Amino acid sequence: MNKIVEVKDLTKVFNGYRAVDSISFDLFEGEILGLIGPNGAGKTTTLQMLLDLTTPTSGEIKIFGLELKANRGEILQRVNFSSSYISLPLSLTVEENLTVFARLYNVSKPKGRIEELLKVFEIYNIKDTPTRRLSSGQITRVCLCKALLNNPSILFLDEPTASLDPDIADKTRTLLKKIKDENGISMLYTSHNMKEMEEMSDRVIIINKGKIIAEGKPDALIAQYKGESLEDVFLKIARQ
Ligand SMILES: Nc1ncnc2c1ncn2[C@@H]1O[C@H](COP(=O)(O)OP(=O)(O)O)[C@@H](O)[C@H]1O
Ligand SMILES: [Mg+2]
Repeated sequence: MNKIVEVKDLTKVFNGYRAVDSISFDLFEGEILGLIGPNGAGKTTTLQMLLDLTTPTSGEIKIFGLELKANRGEILQRVNFSSSYISLPLSLTVEENLTVFARLYNVSKPKGRIEELLKVFEIYNIKDTPTRRLSSGQITRVCLCKALLNNPSILFLDEPTASLDPDIADKTRTLLKKIKDENGISMLYTSHNMKEMEEMSDRVIIINKGKIIAEGKPDALIAQYKGESLEDVFLKIARQ
């Protein structure tokens, strides 16, 4: 399989604290890679460096075989992200917000693409609602629409289902898997829902205090840590 993201010795130091401490990993084409770790482990910082929103202290990031900093524009056109913590302009309607992003991404035929995505995520009915009146679950789905507007080859998802009720979270997972299968999108994904990680991820990386401490297919990790689920593995590692 092709390596679509290659990370080598990536490090981020904040005021002397090594938030991400020399991690190396690859994301393969068409793969869903789960990034698991306790709060403060360095997951969000890692994703932000992959999006060039945070500059690494040291290390190397290659996406599509290209060095990120030197090829930023070209790479970011083919990538997108979603997180529970994105803030959208609240006075704009859902459709207006997505139209702004569609322009930013140079989406051809934005209106049609936006309508299509709103229907996929079952929020077409709120397209004219001001963003300030949305529930957190609706905002999450608007953010996922945003993330797919430019037909990305790679999606970085930071706790995308964190604010969703179990029904919508389940639908979202099904949709993300369908989108992955149909469009061959590769995903790097974080979540605190270990069942979700087990279900979604082809492979998982466990990170703690900025370091990768385990890596493998969910089944293999569960066997390695003599647990019954990824939740067991997580708890054993977090409490070490
Ligand atoms: N902008 C920042 N300035 C200083 N410290 C930060 C900043 N962003 C993150 N950190 C610290 O880096 C560590 C990792 O944070 P983060 O990547 O958000 O972890 P996670 O997403 O795994 O919960 C934490 O100790 C956090 O306080
Ligand atoms: Mg985080």
